[in-house]
Amino acid sequence: MTSSALERLTLPLRTERLIVRASTPADSAAVWRYRRLDEVSRWLTTAPADTEEFRAHFTDPERLAITLLVELPGAGVIGDIMVRVEDAWSQSEVRAQAAGVQAELGWAMDPAQQARGYATEAVRAVMAACFTVLGLRRVSAGCFAANEASWRMMERLGMRREEHSRRTALHRSGEWMDGMNYGILAEEWRSLND
Ligand SMILES: CC(C)(COP(=O)(O)OP(=O)(O)OC[C@H]1O[C@@H](n2cnc3c(N)ncnc32)[C@H](O)[C@@H]1OP(=O)(O)O)[C@@H](O)C(=O)NCCC(=O)NCCS
Repeated sequence: MTSSALERLTLPLRTERLIVRASTPADSAAVWRYRRLDEVSRWLTTAPADTEEFRAHFTDPERLAITLLVELPGAGVIGDIMVRVEDAWSQSEVRAQAAGVQAELGWAMDPAQQARGYATEAVRAVMAACFTVLGLRRVSAGCFAANEASWRMMERLGMRREEHSRRTALHRSGEWMDGMNYGILAEEWRSLND
């Protein structure tokens, strides 16, 4: 299974304060407005050099298909969430049963809107949709260990730290940094949300 799994979500998702919706090429400028900031891009996989490079990256159909946008009514787009549905590792004889059963999440929020609980609120809704609407068995996310805001949010969301690896991730600064991976299973999510 691939990115098209997101088409099965009934978008937009509405939370108490936010709207989480699909992305379109026309959203590129609104997302670049915060993704261009060093404090945001320093932790992200790709840091495009300018607006054109970002547009090419953002409007790639495969990228758009896995990117949800977080809107604050009155303020517009304040963040984005990646949902990459993927296969679990499996032995070859049972590969079909492991296809498309989990998702990797990623996120970025406009610094002007951070520390208000918006990111947690939006990701919580996306995670709920992963386990209910998409029926996935596991959700995971990774980050540099130094990205405390990100892993603190994962812990707020009930995700478990599954890995803290030593100097496994090369940052564009040239430094080999520690990495972290977090996960949560459907049954763990259910027991937290019952
Ligand atoms: C990771 C990131 C999305 C987290 O954003 P955030 O603003 O820290 O997360 P939230 O919006 O959920 O805010 C949580 C904070 O707001 C506080 N808060 C204030 N009002 C709140 C409310 N109504 N509800 C919940 N939390 C609230 C929380 O206590 C928490 O503070 P704490 O971390 O000191 O305990 C953000 O730091 C970011 O975009 N970073 C740059 C990109 C990045 O690193 N992406 C991830 C790559 S792996």
